[in-house]
Amino acid sequence: MSCGTLYFRQFDDESARATRACEATHRKVTIMEPQFWHDRWAKNEIGFHKGEANPLLVTYFKELALAKGSRIFVPLCGKTLDISWLLSNGYRVAGAELSAIAIEQLFTELGTKPTITRNGGIDRYHAPDIDIFVGDIFDVTNTMLGPVDAMYDRAALVALPENMRSRYTAHVTTITNHAPQLLVCYEYDQRAAEGPPFSISHEEVRRHYAHRYQLRLLASEDVPGGLKGKCAATEHVWLLRKN
Ligand SMILES: C[S@@+](CC[C@H](N)C(=O)[O-])C[C@H]1O[C@@H](n2cnc3c(N)ncnc32)[C@H](O)[C@@H]1O
Repeated sequence: MSCGTLYFRQFDDESARATRACEATHRKVTIMEPQFWHDRWAKNEIGFHKGEANPLLVTYFKELALAKGSRIFVPLCGKTLDISWLLSNGYRVAGAELSAIAIEQLFTELGTKPTITRNGGIDRYHAPDIDIFVGDIFDVTNTMLGPVDAMYDRAALVALPENMRSRYTAHVTTITNHAPQLLVCYEYDQRAAEGPPFSISHEEVRRHYAHRYQLRLLASEDVPGGLKGKCAATEHVWLLRKN
């Protein structure tokens, strides 16, 4: 069993069970436990973490056309060096992340000591120009987050299994007040490899966001060497602007 499967809880969906008699297929629902991510951070199994700012961010961030000082929301941020890139380019950052280990490392690597305040299940790590909300993103409210000018999603939507993605996209749209968004996602044959990262088709991006945003596909690039060396994959960069 792979690491990805081990931490998933799979069970029969009640509604599917009720209608199974008249259905040819038996639907499974997959829940990704927070413990999956806590364990990844505790064991330092963070292959998703890159040693440099994402080149797609560096190339396409300007498409958001934001003034310096704008505040960018980075959901499911880990300790990404994209945060460092945003700060050093004159932007402010708000992040959300489950793992306190990730965020302790983030601030150590930024060379900044945060002040930490607790609010419900969320710990807010604050330093000049940066706030990170540590806890489940679904517990982060619009009021806690405060105003943001844009959102940058790299390895957030794709980190979530299918049955969590609609809730996630609705939630981030709400807590950011429909802020424009730069979205990076993978597309590959989901039968050839299991997520995370999960494959997100153009159709799925449209399903989540087309009724809320104007969507523009900015770029599609082949992933060098494929996804985890298992199958060909493409990375897509989307620009989402409020309708
Ligand atoms: C694939 S990693 C991507 C991290 C970062 N965006 C990057 O590019 O390196 C996904 C991150 O989301 C965090 N995460 C997963 N579920 C979460 C949730 N419900 N609320 C907040 N963070 C979550 C995990 O701990 C992990 O650090």
